[in-house]
Amino acid sequence: MSDADAQKRAAGEAAAALVENGMVVGLGTGSTAAWFVKALGARQLDLTCVCTSEVTAELARSLGMKLGELGDTREIDLTVDGADEIGPGLSLIKGGGAALLREKLVWEASKRCVVIADAAKRVPVLGQFPLPIEVVAFGHKTTALRICDALTECDLGVAPRLRMKDGQPVRTDGGNFIYDAACGRIVEPALLAEALKSVTGVVDHGLFLDLADQALVGTPEGVLTIEP
Ligand code: A5P
Repeated sequence: MSDADAQKRAAGEAAAALVENGMVVGLGTGSTAAWFVKALGARQLDLTCVCTSEVTAELARSLGMKLGELGDTREIDLTVDGADEIGPGLSLIKGGGAALLREKLVWEASKRCVVIADAAKRVPVLGQFPLPIEVVAFGHKTTALRICDALTECDLGVAPRLRMKDGQPVRTDGGNFIYDAACGRIVEPALLAEALKSVTGVVDHGLFLDLADQALVGTPEGVLTIEP
């Protein structure tokens, strides 16, 4: 196992220890979240799990975990999920796995959100990881031009790129497309978040601001706990 995988695993296992019997738990998406789901499944608690993607739902089902729908209960007790970048104040970039919309819906419905990651995900400024932006497929090229304008307004002169796989645009679980914007340095993430949300056709973006309550980061020295 690589060092990064060992750190992801340690962070996932530490997060699984936070879960208590009877909780409604949000299950994130990605390789780090998968370690959490496996560790949680092994504890065999009486839980209801709300998944942030079909991939995670499949994993949870295979482990015999009980699944619920978002909205079955008013709030989720605890959500644990990975991130592509962890910046100052636990600002995050997410969506590398194309699950950002369901992730944000689940995070926003949660009393507490814990982000788990390997040490390489911590950055002084967000933006080295291309920012995923989920758009409605209809008219997506026009939406992309308007995203470009929004990025320019925020002094980020980059052209977002349609995410492709096997020669086809990647479709999210909701049937939308993803554009990735290689911003470089996002100095004012709140302004960018607002500008992107104002574009018709943008469903959501991968900036998760003021949502994480805690980070558990795997490091060579053990799992580090970080508060905003
Ligand atoms: C899924 O859309 C993402 O938000 C993931 O949580 C993020 O990409 C982290 O993935 P890894 O844990 O695989 O790095």
